[in-house]
Amino acid sequence: MRRAKISIIGAGNVGATTAHWCAAAELGDVVLLDIPATEGMPAGKALDLFQAAPIMGFDARLTGTTDWADTAGSDVVVVTAGIARKPGMSRDDLLSTNAKIVGDVAARIRDTSPHAVVIVVSNPLDAMVQRTFQVTGFPPQRVIGQAGILDTARFRAFLAMELGVSVEDISAMLLGGHGDTMVPIPSCTSVGGIPVTQLIPADRLESIITRTRNGGAEIVALLKTGSAYYAPAAATAQMVEAVVRDKKRLVPCAAYCDKEYGVGGYFVGVPVILGSAGIEKIIELDLLAGERAAFDKSIAAVKELVSVMNRLSA
Ligand code: NAI
Ligand code: 2OP
Repeated sequence: MRRAKISIIGAGNVGATTAHWCAAAELGDVVLLDIPATEGMPAGKALDLFQAAPIMGFDARLTGTTDWADTAGSDVVVVTAGIARKPGMSRDDLLSTNAKIVGDVAARIRDTSPHAVVIVVSNPLDAMVQRTFQVTGFPPQRVIGQAGILDTARFRAFLAMELGVSVEDISAMLLGGHGDTMVPIPSCTSVGGIPVTQLIPADRLESIITRTRNGGAEIVALLKTGSAYYAPAAATAQMVEAVVRDKKRLVPCAAYCDKEYGVGGYFVGVPVILGSAGIEKIIELDLLAGERAAFDKSIAAVKELVSVMNRLSA
């Protein structure tokens, strides 16, 4: 059987780490692409990773390149190209630079891998996934943003720390944009099947939710030279796995919502079923009044971000 071809655009921290997780899990052959100015960097990282294969025992080919022809016919393309946050910068500060980069990258994907499922990671995520959709013209099911798996993983990690339990026992859901308005949903969060609201007092839960919203900024402040990449890359690899292995995972992703949740044609974080076709279904939850209000605020923030992006590039 032919192995899946996974191209990762941007061989920086998130891109190279995603390549690592994908290869180690034998999800397919990986092409790591960066701009010509990086010269041998993507080839060096790919070769280094491949030389780990005999030790770690994974069968996956890794190629590093600056030539888009090497990505042709990919089954999945992951977009991590762009600049990352430095201390004091919000995700939105990246808007104009990354909109140009991601627009160029999307045009290349359209021309080289017209049947691919595209997973966008570059920030500000909700605008970059919209830009990829605009430029590729791909069906919305095949354009997906990575944010919710990372944000719920942070929520789950903080809950596990709080309760002193295994991360494996925590299941959570989170909606909205990948920003300060993201909406963790306590009514869909449980620990070993027990609603989290029965285990953690409301004020303490609220402070964990606040820490989750600031999860990216907390890492930026610690690293000082860039933003998080291990957990973002693990989240991205989980999405790649869902597609190449047709796993039908029910996870939060930035998906194109038109009638769904009354969004009206934007990408926002919602629960989806993710499989070989990309987004195979969007799940519409019955939200509590407070959750719905917070989600509406987050949708409004995403719409504003996209309208600024559209104005900047008009
Ligand atoms: P990085 O700076 O380590 O890597 C970015 C790479 O993109 C660089 O190697 C750069 O040369 C490359 N690049 C720039 N223009 C390109 C082009 N036109 N074609 C191909 N490659 C190009 O940054 P890092 O840490 O890997 O982050 C990448 C992006 O992902 C950032 O925008 C960051 O904010 C975002 N991010 C998003 C997350 C999410 O949950 N959605 C989580 C973490 C990061
Ligand atoms: C994060 O959440 C910066 O979006 C990136 O870590």
